[in-house]
Amino acid sequence: MDNDEAIERTAAHVRELMQGESSGHDWWHVYRVWQTAKMIARHEQAELVVVELAALLHDIADWKFHAGDTTAGPRAARAWLMTLDVAEETTTHVCRIIQDLSFKGAGVADMMVSREGMIVQDADRLDALGAIGIARTFAYGGHMRRTMYDPEVEPQPHADFEAYKTSNGTTINHFYEKLLLLKDRMHTDTARHMARERHQFMLQFLERFFAEWEGTI
Ligand code: ADP
Ligand code: NI
Repeated sequence: MDNDEAIERTAAHVRELMQGESSGHDWWHVYRVWQTAKMIARHEQAELVVVELAALLHDIADWKFHAGDTTAGPRAARAWLMTLDVAEETTTHVCRIIQDLSFKGAGVADMMVSREGMIVQDADRLDALGAIGIARTFAYGGHMRRTMYDPEVEPQPHADFEAYKTSNGTTINHFYEKLLLLKDRMHTDTARHMARERHQFMLQFLERFFAEWEGTI
């Protein structure tokens, strides 16, 4: 099977699996990450088939929905890619990217090693920012039955993955625990540039949120 067909079949498979998901990790999130990753890749030296397959498969079995198991995603991706006869080298690279992709806490360093992985991670993180990022964050918070905001609960700078994973903070705190940190953790210039604008928009949103909370506007 050629690469284009593998990508097309993977997109159809993921669309089927993730359609209608309600936590902000639905097919259209994957679709946006896929398109953004392709766009970033145009400015970088990267193996496009790896970028596209990793973008498409990156959320098929997220640890957040598999009892904290970070191996579920790469395993599900490998099982799918085996059915397509994708080259072993490509499969291994894609699964490695999926394993390393997820944000694991403010104090936990990113460990993405390949250019392809950096591109997919940047694309995934751009979808966590701006207007869409805000919408997804409240969708996720509702899905997980989290409190929207509580002024008595302080944001936590999670030093390790365990602390991040088991945290039960408010949705507004997630902006301080993750989203506002992302603009400085982009790998590519293209994503860094886009992240700046989306970051500014989130700051404006938060400013307004707190002003309305206090009743000053
Ligand atoms: P990553 O791919 O970096 O692991 P996640 O899948 O953890 O990203 O997060 C994707 C989006 O889900 C976040 O950008 C955010 O919108 C939402 N989300 C994840 N964790 C939380 C949380 N604790 N509270 C609110 N939203 C969250
Ligand atoms: Ni994602």
